[in-house]
Amino acid sequence: MDKDKLNEAAELISKAEHITAFTGAGISVESGIPPFRGKNGLWSKYDPIFLSLDYFYENSTESWKLIKEIFYDFFGQALPNYAHKGLAELEKFGKLEAVITQNIDNLHQEAGSLNVIEFHGTSRILACTQCSFKYQHKEISLVNLPPICPRCGSVLKPNFIFFGEGIPQHAYLASMFEAENADLFIIIGTTGEVMPASLIPQIAKQNGAKILEINTEPSNYTHELTDVFLQGKASMIMKQLVSLLDRD
Ligand code: APR
Repeated sequence: MDKDKLNEAAELISKAEHITAFTGAGISVESGIPPFRGKNGLWSKYDPIFLSLDYFYENSTESWKLIKEIFYDFFGQALPNYAHKGLAELEKFGKLEAVITQNIDNLHQEAGSLNVIEFHGTSRILACTQCSFKYQHKEISLVNLPPICPRCGSVLKPNFIFFGEGIPQHAYLASMFEAENADLFIIIGTTGEVMPASLIPQIAKQNGAKILEINTEPSNYTHELTDVFLQGKASMIMKQLVSLLDRD
């Protein structure tokens, strides 16, 4: 990694008053969770249709078989990597106000981040499609699919956003607040492909925020919005950044 760029990025962080992180699937790749797009991308193996609301309601058993396989059996064992932990460190020493994440894997919380805005919801909660009661996913057996609400007998759905579903209002509002008030946005591990999440860094930029981006490849932001682009794996770069800041 280019030392000058790292120092420039550390400088941005130490000078900023209100820093917000914006993360995507790439921050969890080193925890063993594949991205959606690019090399080994989930959408190159699975047809995203199983995560569309209509398909889920008409074929809940089929949809749940894939949901369980991917988001519970496979993802369930993932642990936070240093990129998640580095953001939690920044929050601890008062250099990060919030993480807006597109991820549903709960790894930011497990790394110790306290203010996490889950723009696409979370896989950790199952919600009843009829009575809306919510359960911790660990309370509900996934042996028989689809899982049924213990209270009313209806199908349970993971509390993350399916294609065709709206963004949770509290997450939307909290994200807009960050985009309007941050003077530094740290974008980690996202292609910037999916609306409306992908608009958040643009709104931050329009409101005067500087953009620091960490990604193994250029993204939709890199040549449009990004002020400092650190190309490489998120965990390694975050480790270098945090150690530079520790010295301050
Ligand atoms: N470190 C940093 N960045 C990485 C790493 C890594 N180790 N590995 C991959 N990346 C980058 C890729 O270069 C890519 O830009 O992470 C990004 C992953 O992109 P996507 O798979 O498109 O993930 P994301 O941008 O989060 O997708 C947004 O799409 O399908 C929906 O709801 C889903 O939240 C998801 C949304």
